[in-house]
Amino acid sequence: MRRRSFISLGAAGMCTVLAGCGSDEQRDSRWDVPSGPIVLGFSQVGSESGWRAANTASIKKAAERNRVTLKFDNADGDQKKQIAAIQSYIATKVNVIAFSPVVETGWDPVLRQARDAGIPVVLTDRLIETADESLYVSSIGAEFSSEGNLAALYLENDYDEFSGHVNVVELRGTPGSSPTRLRTEGFRETAYRHGKLRVMDSEPGNWTVAGGEAAMKKLLRRVKRIDAVFAQNDDMGLGAIKALQAAGKKPGTDVRIVTVDATRAGLKALADGKLNYVVECSPEIGEQLMTVVIDLFFGADVQKRVESQKAVFDRNSAADALPDRTY
Ligand code: AHR
Repeated sequence: MRRRSFISLGAAGMCTVLAGCGSDEQRDSRWDVPSGPIVLGFSQVGSESGWRAANTASIKKAAERNRVTLKFDNADGDQKKQIAAIQSYIATKVNVIAFSPVVETGWDPVLRQARDAGIPVVLTDRLIETADESLYVSSIGAEFSSEGNLAALYLENDYDEFSGHVNVVELRGTPGSSPTRLRTEGFRETAYRHGKLRVMDSEPGNWTVAGGEAAMKKLLRRVKRIDAVFAQNDDMGLGAIKALQAAGKKPGTDVRIVTVDATRAGLKALADGKLNYVVECSPEIGEQLMTVVIDLFFGADVQKRVESQKAVFDRNSAADALPDRTY
């Protein structure tokens, strides 16, 4: 599978991304070097959120800019579809496969098939659970547990003046996915360190506005006193706003809300005072993915882990960031 080959970099597209590109420059590569443009098979989780739409747009735009031929498939949140897409990429002999796994487990057999076919695999955004980390060459994305840590930290600091316990409910993403598990763990780890925040209950909202709204309604029925909400993404936070308003409560004031993502819609709600903090999880990882994809064949060693950008926004910084927010 690992071959050392010497190649001539003549493809026009490569010149946009490779320093010192010249027609007779030679480099070695770990993988079979494509004779034409690199063909990347990418299996996207679905189109569940504003974040996901921005992520898809970023990958398509970066592929085009870097002259990588993209075979794109949307799995609609279904692991079977995602496995079928990966198998079709193997069958059509793409040069590299990337995917954002809908759930963490169950990938080893198909990733072994890719390895046996000599096709490197890159994970984007989400992670998998495997005993064999050599099944993928790199993973690109956010540190989900630290997003949960930050959400709890900012929320806790916001209650500085408050002497009692803060009753928090949690709107979770889809069960079994890495951001759901790790944001949950990160939030609890920080919340329990000082003991001020108490996670009273949680409900899956599946990353969508409608799901967040329905989940918040259930929690309002189940939990007597809700002081704050940790919504694991903006869309579910926007759904919580609707449910709280329908229950006669003022989101951001009567019930404080912290979310993750920092999409335009999330930052707008924050600037309007309906959310209290938003932890950024950048969906714009297309260029980072193309760098890895190209480096696999033509560049330096590929890093096993590539981290995406993060920040925390409050009302003022959200208003400042909004004019330039592209997603
Ligand atoms: O995996 C990243 C998460 O998936 C985003 O935070 C959420 O909005 C999305 O759909």
